[in-house]
Amino acid sequence: MKHSLLCLALLAALSATTGAEAIRSEPVTPLAAPEVIDAGKAELGKKLFFDPRLSRSGFISCNSCHNLSMGGSDNLRTSIGHNWQQGPINSPTVLNSSLSVAQFWDGRAANLQEQAGGPIANPGEMASTHVLAVDVVHSIPGYVDEFQSVFGSGEVSIERMTAAIAEFEKTLVTPGSRFDQWLLGDDGALSEQELAGYTLFKQSGCVACHNGAALGGNSFQRMGVVEPYQTDNPAVGRAGVTGKDADRFTFKVPTLRNIELTYPYFHDGAAETLEEAVQLMGRLQLGRTYSEKETADIVAFLHSLTGKQPDFKLPILPPSSNQTPAPEPFAKKS
Ligand code: HEC
Ligand code: HEC
Repeated sequence: MKHSLLCLALLAALSATTGAEAIRSEPVTPLAAPEVIDAGKAELGKKLFFDPRLSRSGFISCNSCHNLSMGGSDNLRTSIGHNWQQGPINSPTVLNSSLSVAQFWDGRAANLQEQAGGPIANPGEMASTHVLAVDVVHSIPGYVDEFQSVFGSGEVSIERMTAAIAEFEKTLVTPGSRFDQWLLGDDGALSEQELAGYTLFKQSGCVACHNGAALGGNSFQRMGVVEPYQTDNPAVGRAGVTGKDADRFTFKVPTLRNIELTYPYFHDGAAETLEEAVQLMGRLQLGRTYSEKETADIVAFLHSLTGKQPDFKLPILPPSSNQTPAPEPFAKKS
């Protein structure tokens, strides 16, 4: 097992191409500033990301559960959806999610555009329908003008909406962390303790799964390699997508970028602190019990992974018109 994990780490290191030019050759590579392919489309996508009118209640936006003031997550064990419904799983951050091989804990959406259609029509989340969400946006003259200038016609479709949201999400990359400064050659960027933590992170094998520019997001791995994970959460992981028994309890490895901001941890949100998450990972994935000092060292290293957070003007949304379908904040059925 140890051997195959190491091979994995080497492979991932060799194939990591997303980073800026690093001075040091490490299994973790620095994040490069996002390349915005289409600034107008991203700007439209930003508005849609913040627009609660995409939900049936008129109250829940993407930003409700992926709060960009809080690391792109909601800091809740599991999310709260339409009608105060208890969500089934922890909300992963949208920061750096463009770097992942697939979206969702089980990877069931191939890319960001495909993903963005999900929550709008999910009865437990925004509880709208694609038809209704399109109607709402189409009824808002300010949006129709913007679709006209971005796409060349005022036609509003779910494909165009999700393409714009995905374009915005591609801008949510967080370069410039102290760890990246160190990777780029600044010896003074990390404290001795943080460096000791990184060394331990590498030597004990965390890096086999958490590697590349995002320290994760590039493979599916079992939760509980050495020892099974105890949870009441019914999520089966990747097996729900592939139907293969071997993929039971296999999840997309989460990114560790900005990890100090995105508590609580794991797909069930059961680990409240980073200390708890690190000790559990050591025991369950590597069969290793860390001392208090070792845990503190790794946690110190993880804190150095917080990058420059998205920095932009709050989008001002165009007002609804007399034709805009009314929100139904207390609709019981969706
Ligand atoms: C009610 C809370 C809620 C709302 C609203 C919501 N999400 Fe999510 N989001 C989640 C949860 C929970 C997951 C994880 C679901 C899973 O993996 O099964 C998730 C997953 C994601 C992911 C995948 C991240 C990853 O690492 O796999 C992206 C990207 C994302 N959401 C973007 C959006 C966008 C864009 C919107 C608005 C159109 C949105 N979300 C609305 C809760 C929410
Ligand atoms: C065999 C692959 C593997 C190894 C080795 C591994 N991890 Fe993980 N890690 C995962 C997976 C998969 C998850 C998601 C598990 C879940 O949510 O059920 C995860 C989750 C985490 C999380 C929580 C992230 C979040 O956003 O919820 C942290 C923190 C973490 N790992 C740190 C570590 C550290 C530190 C080590 C070394 C002690 C380590 N991991 C070793 C695969 C691995």
